[in-house]
Amino acid sequence: MTGFFVVFEGGDGVGKTTQIDLLAAHLRAADRDVTVTREPGGTDLGVELRQAVMHGNHVAPRAEALLYAADRAHHIATKVRPALEAGGMVIQDRYVDSSVVYQGGARGLGDEVERISRWATEGLTPHLTVVLDMEPRAERLNRDLDRVERETAAHQALIRQAFLDRAALDPGRYAVIDAARSRQEVAADVVAAVAASVAEAGLPPVPTAPAGIEPWGTP
Ligand code: TYD
Repeated sequence: MTGFFVVFEGGDGVGKTTQIDLLAAHLRAADRDVTVTREPGGTDLGVELRQAVMHGNHVAPRAEALLYAADRAHHIATKVRPALEAGGMVIQDRYVDSSVVYQGGARGLGDEVERISRWATEGLTPHLTVVLDMEPRAERLNRDLDRVERETAAHQALIRQAFLDRAALDPGRYAVIDAARSRQEVAADVVAAVAASVAEAGLPPVPTAPAGIEPWGTP
């Protein structure tokens, strides 16, 4: 496999979409073949599974975990692996860590969720996982929180810590980036992490400085 696979992870609202767009623009400006995709919902079948899992009525926890895994199996087999085998760079919004953190950790399904995901993907591991890290929004509000805000903040704090714990298990394959800064600062760190991982993988180097035009625009 000659391509490069980078995944973005993190809690809700940390700016994954913005940073994925900026990285894609940067790599395309360097003439790279880039596929931007996401889970759940990166394929036609995935859009239906996303609808079922995110907008359905109550879905039993094990069914939910299997729906995410089904989306992943189809997405990796039909979109991500072919792009990597063609030598492309794949930038993906969420992957196995999201299942481990949200279904495994938060719902108490433990390591089984990771094994199901590994089976679904035939063990495809990203070259790099970027964890965009930020204090939960409710905690950043400079005022007393009501009960719902406190519960939300507590839940988001658990999610945040679970991503940090995943990253700490395998620091060589993760970059934890402080996302509570300007988008240019975050983007510069993302590009540096990708460039280092590309070099490590022995692939043709990607530039760390923007070539000519500023690809990440105004703050
Ligand atoms: P996403 O589309 O990234 O939306 P957001 O912009 O809110 O991050 O993810 C949708 C939700 O799906 C998000 O709350 C996390 C959840 N999710 C899981 O619970 N398990 C998974 O395996 C994946 C991929 C996502």
